[in-house]
Amino acid sequence: MSLEKQSNEEIRASGMKDDALVEEHVRLHQIKHEPTKGFLQAPLIFVFVFGCLIFLCSIQLALTTNDFQLHPPKEADTETPEQKEANRWAKKLSAGKKVFLANCSSCHKPNGVGEPGVYPPLAGSNWVTTDPALITNIILKGLKGEIKVNGDTYGTTGIAMNSIAISDRQIANVVTYVRQAWGNEADPIEIFEDDVASVRAEYSEKQDQWVFKQLKDIYPEALFGD
Ligand code: HEC
Repeated sequence: MSLEKQSNEEIRASGMKDDALVEEHVRLHQIKHEPTKGFLQAPLIFVFVFGCLIFLCSIQLALTTNDFQLHPPKEADTETPEQKEANRWAKKLSAGKKVFLANCSSCHKPNGVGEPGVYPPLAGSNWVTTDPALITNIILKGLKGEIKVNGDTYGTTGIAMNSIAISDRQIANVVTYVRQAWGNEADPIEIFEDDVASVRAEYSEKQDQWVFKQLKDIYPEALFGD
């Protein structure tokens, strides 16, 4: 039996020395095997098949992605101006809702009903549905002292609202939202960043929170009857 066919056990049992073993390995290593028949053809077929696959997939991709555009135009082009406007309005309200949930709902509650005797409601509040500049100003500076909302008195226990540090755009969104939320039926006026910026600029000197009397002087019609 040639050494090539001997198992490890047999080699060990034959008492072969390490040197001889190494030499034998060197010799075996040098023996060249005949190339396996058909060995070369197989990869060539694969290259061809994969080439075809990549080609076909590219065509498919080009068709489904609108010529490889990263952001293919949506069907928006077929929308009427009214639909576009409705979509934009819906987006604005949902952006406002996010701002509300993150910055106001801890006190005024997610459904805007507030907490009796502590946090006044925004749902059904005429403070919210009148002049949008009033609520903008309250968010910008805060509010303290006694007020009346929906016939109930608040602010007598020393709990006040501090200014809410959010951007003009966030204020525009949240004001637009709360005027329409929870059955509030303010005129569907959209409040823009610029509207907020002008209120901010007009009262930039004012440092502390508003009190009812000051607001009533500025917005007599909005707070009419309060
Ligand atoms: C930390 C609690 C707190 C947070 C947060 C808060 N408020 Fe207020 N808010 C109050 C309190 C308290 C009052 C009443 C202050 C008073 O009695 O003078 C008030 C009053 C108001 C009023 C006038 C009264 C009414 O109910 O209509 C409006 C409008 C208002 N908040 C809107 C907001 C908006 C919008 C946000 C978020 C951007 C917000 N508040 C965040 C506590 C809070």
